[in-house]
Amino acid sequence: MPQASYQPLLDDGERLGRIALEALQLERMQWTLTHAFENNKAYKKLFDEAGIHPGDLKTLGDLAKFPFTTKGDLRAAYPFGFFACPREDIVRIHASSGTTGKPTVVGYTKKDIATWADLVARSIRAAGGRPGMKVHVAYGYGLFTGGLGAHYGAEALGCTVIPMSGGQTEKQVQLICDFEPDIIMVTPSYMLAILDEFRRQKIDPRASSLKIGIFGAEPWTNEMRGEIEGAFDIDAVDIYGLSEVIGPGVANECVETKDGLTIWEDHFYPEIIDPKTGAALPDGSFGELVFTSLTKQAMPIIRYRTGDLTRLLPATARAMRRIDRITGRNDDMLIIRGVNVFPSQIEEQILKTSGLAPHYVLEVTRPERLDLLTVKVEAREGRTEERRQDAAKALSHAIKTNIGVSVHVDAVAPSSIERSAGKAKRVIDLRDQRKP
Ligand code: DLL
Repeated sequence: MPQASYQPLLDDGERLGRIALEALQLERMQWTLTHAFENNKAYKKLFDEAGIHPGDLKTLGDLAKFPFTTKGDLRAAYPFGFFACPREDIVRIHASSGTTGKPTVVGYTKKDIATWADLVARSIRAAGGRPGMKVHVAYGYGLFTGGLGAHYGAEALGCTVIPMSGGQTEKQVQLICDFEPDIIMVTPSYMLAILDEFRRQKIDPRASSLKIGIFGAEPWTNEMRGEIEGAFDIDAVDIYGLSEVIGPGVANECVETKDGLTIWEDHFYPEIIDPKTGAALPDGSFGELVFTSLTKQAMPIIRYRTGDLTRLLPATARAMRRIDRITGRNDDMLIIRGVNVFPSQIEEQILKTSGLAPHYVLEVTRPERLDLLTVKVEAREGRTEERRQDAAKALSHAIKTNIGVSVHVDAVAPSSIERSAGKAKRVIDLRDQRKP
């Protein structure tokens, strides 16, 4: 696969060695805890209830004595109850939609916006982007942090931004052809919809100007990376983040290694915990990712339980540690007859099965007393009914062998599964629907 040949260009934070980095983290963590405790009632209450004081943090390990913050805590303080500075100092609000209930609201000071832009700029550089390049942003603009986060970061790096936002797929293709961007920032699933549109218009995607894709906001697999890199002849790298922590640019993959995402540890302190007991786990163990912000003013976040499952890995391309690709979220995990299944595991098997396209949805039903998982997946163009059936059988066998669960596979016609212009919805749970 293509691999942009370039010299990494590093900022001061990225150049820190491990010892200097940890000293900086401790100093910033002490500041964050004190700032949150003194300027936010919700944090003061959480700390008081846990019988802990910011002064108790003497080492980075002491952080484990502090209470977690959850989405529930943020929702209970809706809308602005986790802000830690005067409302007039907040220059921007974002919110994560959430499928049910109230959104989670986050705020930024002018300095927070500058920090965020610098970290997205760093992320784009890690992906191989350079000042002067053109960046097509197809993450949604608005309350979602994807569009504006990418936008400010690309500008901070000195790129030319094309603020296309999500949707209008025909126009996406037209602008990519006419404006000739070097970089695209978009969810991997929407990149596939853009790919469909290139093919529909009979334009060769490999001949496009694109060199780098920076994909995130949803889980995706290395197999999907292969699919997209091959189709567009680009380098595809992973970007991670969440609104509660800052937005995109909490961690990013370095193009020279493509081995998981380097966490920008000078601004966010990661931990992995056992999702059931909350106990901190050693590096290398799989569990739930927890973040503490180190420099945020408007809304410091302390031991925030992301719900994302991964593990911490040692540093490679930078001095900072990495996370493995996110396997999925706690709440995306399906338990099918006792076996834990993540949509990303199914995606991996789909992409390894010849004749199947990377468009799929998982339907869970309970026809009798047992859960049934149906994988609806598109067959590639031009397959006969017989070859579709063969592919379906092969996938069902691969899932049974590799994941250990029996599923029903429905290989459907090309273009029959709904495309999304942002995050793809992979699971449709029909279990609670009563029969009329
Ligand atoms: O999705 C921020 C973002 C925008 C990240 C654009 C990357 C690119 P939220 O809407 O708050 O923020 O959703 C955050 O999305 O907890 C993960 O479950 C998931 N997520 C984000 N990036 C990745 C990724 C943005 N690279 C939630 N891989 C997170 C897997 C991801 N999941």
